[in-house]
Amino acid sequence: MAKKLWGGRFSQPRDQLAEQFTASIGFDRRLYKHDIAGSIAHAKMLAKQGIISPSERDQIIRGLEEIREEIERGEFEFKLELEDIHLNIEHRLTEKIGEAGRKLHTARSRNDQIALDIRLYLREEIGAILSLLDTVRAALVETAERELGVIMPGYTHLQRAQPVLLSHHLLAYYQMFSRDRERFQDCLKRVNVLPLGAAALAGTSFPIDRHYVAELLDFPAVSENSIDTVADRDFIIECCAAMSICAMHLSRSAEEYINWSSAEFGFVELPDAFTTGSSIMPQKKNPDVLELMRGKTARVYGALLRELVVMKGLPLAYHSDMQEDKEALFDALDTLKACLELYGALVPQVKFQAVAMRQAAGGGYSTATDLADYLVRQGVPFRSAHEAVGTAVRYCLEQGKELSELSLEELRRFAPQVGDDVYQYITVERAVAARRSYGGTAPEQVQAAIERARQELARQ
Ligand code: ARG
Repeated sequence: MAKKLWGGRFSQPRDQLAEQFTASIGFDRRLYKHDIAGSIAHAKMLAKQGIISPSERDQIIRGLEEIREEIERGEFEFKLELEDIHLNIEHRLTEKIGEAGRKLHTARSRNDQIALDIRLYLREEIGAILSLLDTVRAALVETAERELGVIMPGYTHLQRAQPVLLSHHLLAYYQMFSRDRERFQDCLKRVNVLPLGAAALAGTSFPIDRHYVAELLDFPAVSENSIDTVADRDFIIECCAAMSICAMHLSRSAEEYINWSSAEFGFVELPDAFTTGSSIMPQKKNPDVLELMRGKTARVYGALLRELVVMKGLPLAYHSDMQEDKEALFDALDTLKACLELYGALVPQVKFQAVAMRQAAGGGYSTATDLADYLVRQGVPFRSAHEAVGTAVRYCLEQGKELSELSLEELRRFAPQVGDDVYQYITVERAVAARRSYGGTAPEQVQAAIERARQELARQ
């Protein structure tokens, strides 16, 4: 049985259930690299400040590096009774190097140590998310470029609204993921602050040099207030919020592909590699990957809520409640990374059914606005044009016709201003080409948007 590193004050052994209940080693062991990196920087600083000797520093560093290797070789024995990753490593260090190991914890507490470990871990993870987001964004731009010219129905209220380019639709997601990228980068600024040196909550009486530690660990800033440093987890919460928003974007897109792959839409064929069959219905090809992408959004949202609820009732400063921050965070990070990776691989392999999309784009009176706009250019006020076209649509519905199938005479019944040039203005292609306003769906606007996206990707 490993001896408790804080055992001095206690006369009774710990209850076994209590021990299992409080241990976090089962999940915080994934912070081992960060914990060791933090301890090495701390030891260097302690020696520089004359708090430990250079020889003690060297023994500590060597010991910690060996422990890292033991863990990576799978030889390290994590002990539940040693609670967490900090005490497991420190205990082993002392086992290996004796007295010097017992000096490592001078001028720090597990409270600032865990804050450091999470920040080191999270900034690495955010880096990974940023690079996955870049892959996703590049995949969207490439697909948009490849599919340029394909027309699909644009929807509002899930009713066909106006025809748009498929590329324009794809680039809408490019914008969402670009904002996600900004959110993570912004979040990173507040993650990237050194907490070590706050100690338990009040700072330390030893002459430490926090700025030196920050330099060693590549933190651009040092936290300002020791109580705040160990008490808050807002950087985790905002990261979970950014993850939730990103997962929401992925989920909406997944939902669209699921719908589009159904026979009812027939807009896409999903790559076999990302679908599964049914165990009972031989004809089926199910969009499981996309469904799970949509479903796993729940886990990410769940993490955000867990973090918020853990923190909401805690008076300052540290409480063990905060140990509950990790599993939710880890799970959300793992989930989001997996979703982004899959999405980036899947999108370029989707086969878009241009004919079905184009056909659907022509239905549902999707060029009604273009007819109204035509009338406006003939001098009819928009509201009157709107009404005239609305009446024409009702007539079409009764007759089972499309607007473009009405004769000139029929059209003039609703709007006498209609000229014989009207038909060219109410084709689907014309409707798309006409929307040349900045950020609109006209091919040259979309082409320009692709160009801007390409430049943005090249700069990042
Ligand atoms: N395992 C703890 C956590 O995750 C580390 C800090 C423990 N500090 C303490 N005083 N019990 O928050």
